[in-house]
Amino acid sequence: MRKLLKPIGTFKRSENGIHCFETWDGFDEDAIASLYLGIIWVSNYNFITTVFWIVLEVYRDQRLLNALRSSITDMTGPSIAQDPSRCPLLQSIYAETLRLRTEAYITRRFPHKDVILGDNWRIPRNKICLASTHPSHQDPEVWNTREGKYPLDTFWAERFLLYPDDENSGPLDPSYKARVQPKVSGQHNRPVPQDSYMPSFSLHGLSSSWIPYGGGPRACPGRHIAKKQILSTFISFIQRFDVEILSNEKTWQMDERSYGPGVQLPVGKVAFRMRKRLDKSDEASSAMEAP
Ligand code: HEM
Repeated sequence: MRKLLKPIGTFKRSENGIHCFETWDGFDEDAIASLYLGIIWVSNYNFITTVFWIVLEVYRDQRLLNALRSSITDMTGPSIAQDPSRCPLLQSIYAETLRLRTEAYITRRFPHKDVILGDNWRIPRNKICLASTHPSHQDPEVWNTREGKYPLDTFWAERFLLYPDDENSGPLDPSYKARVQPKVSGQHNRPVPQDSYMPSFSLHGLSSSWIPYGGGPRACPGRHIAKKQILSTFISFIQRFDVEILSNEKTWQMDERSYGPGVQLPVGKVAFRMRKRLDKSDEASSAMEAP
C-alpha cells in the first residue's frame, strides 16, 4: 500500500501525513488511501469544473466580461482571492455558478435514534441518508428571479448582489424575504455610505438554501481553499486571455448521468479558441509598428 501511495504522496508533507494518520484510531492503510483519493478527486473534479463553468458564462457575455475586467484593473488574482469583498460581482458569479452547477449528495447517518422528517418520512437509526443540494438550489419560493426574468435553471451573474437603493435586489425572493423578515432583517440595514450605490454580495438568509458545500459540522473542509483557488485562477485567466466559445449551447447542457458527486460536467466537448491578451505596452508598440 505504501508503494501505491508513493506516486500520490510525492510531497514530503504528504508522506508526513501518512505517518500522522497511522497514529489515529482506526486509520489503516485502506482508510488513508481512500482519504488521498478523495482529496485528489475533489481538488480536480470540483475545482476545475467550477472554473470551467465560470469561464464559459463570463466569456459568452461580453458586457459581463468588460464589467469584471474594469472592476479589477488594480487587483491581482491572489489579492482578490485573499479579500474577495473587493469585488462583489465576482463573488456573486462564484456563488451563482455553484448554485446552478452543483448537484451533490450530502451523506448522513444518525447513530442515536430514528429521525422524523415532516409528516411522511422516517429515517431509521444507522441507515445512510442522501440529501441532494439540487432542490434547495432550485426552490422557487426562496430565490429571487425578478418575477421570472431570471429563471432558476439559468445563470444570472447578479443574483447575489444587494443594491442599497433597491429593496427587491438580493438572492431572496421579495415575498419570501417579507415572510421570514425577522430572521433575515438587517440585510438592508447595514451601514451603507450615503453616496454609495455600490452593491454588496449577500448570502444572508440562505444558510439552508445555498449549500454547495453541505452544512453543519460535516460541511466541506476544503471550501475556503476551493474558493481562493477558483477566484484566483479565474481572475488570472481573464486578465491574461481572450476566449472565444466555438461550440453551441447543446454541448454545455449539464450531464445528468453524473448527478451526485458535486459540480456537474457538461454533456459534450466544448470547443473554444484562446488567445493571449496584449498588455497596454504591447498594444502601444504594435500600434506604433502598424503601417
Ligand atoms: C467547488 C469545490 C468543492 C465543492 C462544491 C465541494 C463540495 C463538498 C460537499 C457537498 C461535501 C459534503 C458536505 C456535507 O456532508 O455536509 C464535501 C465534503 C468534503 N470535501 Fe469538498 N467540495 C469542494 C472542494 C473541496 C476541496 C478543494 C477539498 C480538499 C482540498 C475538499 C475536501 C472535502 C472533504 C475531506 C470532505 C469530507 C468532509 C467530512 O465528511 O467530514 N473539498 N465537499
